[in-house]
Amino acid sequence: MEGGWPFRGGFLLCFTISLLLQGRGDAFTINCSGFDQHGVDPAAFQAVFDRKAFRPVTNFSVPTHVNVSFILSAILEVDAQLQLLTSLLWVTMMWDNPFISWNPEECISSNKLSVLVENLWLPDILVMESVDVDRAPPGLNAYVSSEGRIQYDRPMKVTSICNLDIFYFPFDQQNCTLTFSSFLHTVDSMILGMDKELGMITDTSRNVVQTQGEWELLDINKATPKMQMGSNLYDQIMFYVAIRRRPTFYIINLLVPSSFLVAIDALSFYLPAESENRAPFKITLLLGYNVFLLMMNDLLPASGTPLISVYLALCLSLMVVSLLETIFITYLLHLAATQPPPLPRWLHTLLLHRTSPRKCCPVVAPQRGNSGQGLGPAHLPGTKEPVELVGKGPGPREAELSGCPGSASTLPMRLWVQCSHMMDSLLFRLYLLFLATSITTVIVLWNT
Ligand SMILES: *[C@@H]1O[C@H](CO)[C@@H](O)[C@H](O)[C@H]1NC(C)=O
Ligand SMILES: *[C@@H]1O[C@H](CO)[C@@H](O)[C@H](O)[C@H]1NC(C)=O
Ligand SMILES: *[C@@H]1O[C@H](CO)[C@@H](O)[C@H](O)[C@H]1NC(C)=O
Ligand SMILES: *[C@@H]1O[C@H](CO)[C@@H](O)[C@H](O)[C@H]1NC(C)=O
Repeated sequence: MEGGWPFRGGFLLCFTISLLLQGRGDAFTINCSGFDQHGVDPAAFQAVFDRKAFRPVTNFSVPTHVNVSFILSAILEVDAQLQLLTSLLWVTMMWDNPFISWNPEECISSNKLSVLVENLWLPDILVMESVDVDRAPPGLNAYVSSEGRIQYDRPMKVTSICNLDIFYFPFDQQNCTLTFSSFLHTVDSMILGMDKELGMITDTSRNVVQTQGEWELLDINKATPKMQMGSNLYDQIMFYVAIRRRPTFYIINLLVPSSFLVAIDALSFYLPAESENRAPFKITLLLGYNVFLLMMNDLLPASGTPLISVYLALCLSLMVVSLLETIFITYLLHLAATQPPPLPRWLHTLLLHRTSPRKCCPVVAPQRGNSGQGLGPAHLPGTKEPVELVGKGPGPREAELSGCPGSASTLPMRLWVQCSHMMDSLLFRLYLLFLATSITTVIVLWNT
């Protein structure tokens, strides 16, 4: 190097190199002449920039300590079908570059400079659950302090794999993991740490989360297990992000309407069984419910079987069952009105037993019968068929309602009608019981 340089510039270069080499001795202090009235002289940092391809350490057996923290700034999407959580993070990484240092008192510059990150060595820290290639926006800067500490803030849109459990669907709460780890460096060359308290990260994230959408941030926890892969040991920090769905939207759009429809369906049992209105009413309800399900299908998670699907299916089956019950009772009444087969012996005695102690034979039986039944079928502006049925009906029905055991025992027709009504109220009670237990079960499951 000392060999003849043919021009004077060579002398200067030689001088600079020797200065740099000398500088390496006293911790790479950047000469204050690098900060002049024109700002920063790029030449002063050139030696640092030239080394950006290599991990900035003076002793390669010493690992680089990188402090990682983040702020969850938005929860963009939770995809239950693909089991993905898309979130926006503001990640801060801090590490030391021993080749950078200057004296902030002597130099006019402040003790912090921003440098385009393309010129610096950057730790290859990624979120391991991410399924997307990480794209940092171009032109990001990092702060370089006079002690060589580098602070690199960057936004990170992370689409990460998260084991989503949608069983409790609108009342669900998810726990997603974000693991920060170096993609390449083992514990021998990179150690991760945190300089912020977890509580601070959580609080800041809660304040910052911009989307007031479906999800709310509950809590962030962390764990720092090392990851063994073959013979390599990697340092990592795992953050557990707990988020909860805001269920109001689903309660209003799914649960309330279906509950109303089921309530109406239950109340429609009070329409008299002889009325030709009951079955069409239930069919209309069923149709309406199907249209409702079709419209609201998009709101349900596309995969898995959440409890709410079971609930909706349950409501549908309750409606179907109640329609079947109506058809059955109508059939029984029709049978009673046309050719009643003889009742089984035990049913006969049961009916007699049930009616005889409670009821007597009032003289004004027919009138009471009609008023007790509410709208008598004969008064309804119905089609001809039910009227025809009713035309044969009133006699036995009114007699049955009057509850005369004497006349009932003589006419199987009346017993049949009575039997149908008993069956109706029995099935209605069973229906109510089933409705109550199933809905209680669903609610209890949701609350656990
Ligand atoms: C900085 O470098 C200039 C030459 O480039 C030299 O004259 C000056 O003495 C140096 N200052 C310090 C503090 O090393
Ligand atoms: C490098 O660091 C290791 C461990 O700290 C130490 O044992 C070794 O002496 C250092 N080497 C030099 C050249 O400083
Ligand atoms: C990392 O954080 C710890 C405190 O948790 C601190 O002592 C250390 O200096 C920090 N290191 C860097 C490079 O920021
Ligand atoms: C999330 O899961 C991790 C590990 O599975 C657990 O340590 C943490 O407590 C969970 N967080 C919540 C809020 O359930």
